[in-house]
Amino acid sequence: MQTKELPIGVFDSGIGGLTVVRQIRNILPNEEIFYLGDTARVPYGTKSQETVIRFACEDAQFLLDKGVKAIVVACNTASAWSLPVLERRFGLPICGVIQPGAEAALIASRNKRVGVIGTAATVRSKAYKNAMRDRFEKVQVYAQACPLLVPLAEEGWFTHPVTLKVLEEYLMPLVIEQIDTLILGCTHYPLLKRAIRKVLKQIAPHPIHLVDSAESCAVHVRRRLAELDLLSTSSNIGPIHPFVTDEPVRFFQMARQFLGFPVQTPELVQLKESRG
Ligand code: DGL
Repeated sequence: MQTKELPIGVFDSGIGGLTVVRQIRNILPNEEIFYLGDTARVPYGTKSQETVIRFACEDAQFLLDKGVKAIVVACNTASAWSLPVLERRFGLPICGVIQPGAEAALIASRNKRVGVIGTAATVRSKAYKNAMRDRFEKVQVYAQACPLLVPLAEEGWFTHPVTLKVLEEYLMPLVIEQIDTLILGCTHYPLLKRAIRKVLKQIAPHPIHLVDSAESCAVHVRRRLAELDLLSTSSNIGPIHPFVTDEPVRFFQMARQFLGFPVQTPELVQLKESRG
């Protein structure tokens, strides 16, 4: 089989990366996708750099063994900590969510005061800040860890009053810094977009542009595959094959909300330990 007809491998700590798959599917409908959710070890956002890198290497190795043509790290935490290691270790194109999100934010922001929300690990890594500073030194970046948002999204409380209240607490410090652009730096946050817009409208004196890192990542994947002449030429809708490391039924039940359409029950798999 020609390399361009091989599947794209996508991984995340769990189910959230399906928001990235949704965007890839929107703009690259003919690509076959192998998706790995490391549901046995989710969340990554509370773990150390060392652990996240080890997990990400094991996830990438699994996809590589499946014969994918490129790997998308559809997890902000894993992208923040492990991208350089994955690029060094694995000899195939690797796309993360941080760089495309950072570039989109710089383009969108007029006053160059950008807010980032994400897991504690993503915020601690300063990955978004560094990626933006590399491109424009004077950008002011204000980051806020929002550990309560992942469980609220997984609970389906997308516009629940509790979610709105929690968002107000998290977003107020960023609004006070007069950001005009906010990066949704976690795979779960696209599901909370409506609530985030609503709260910002109430608390911010001027409109704040939202950057969905899942969306910018999909655009980046398309550009990268096109540059490498790796885009599929198939005219059929590419199938999505999900794999998880735990709880396939829970994944199946939740997947529709993250993906926007149903997906088959995932195959339960065990990952090989990384050799370090
Ligand atoms: N997928 C993670 C991220 O985008 C969120 C969930 C987790 O903490 O593992 O950062």
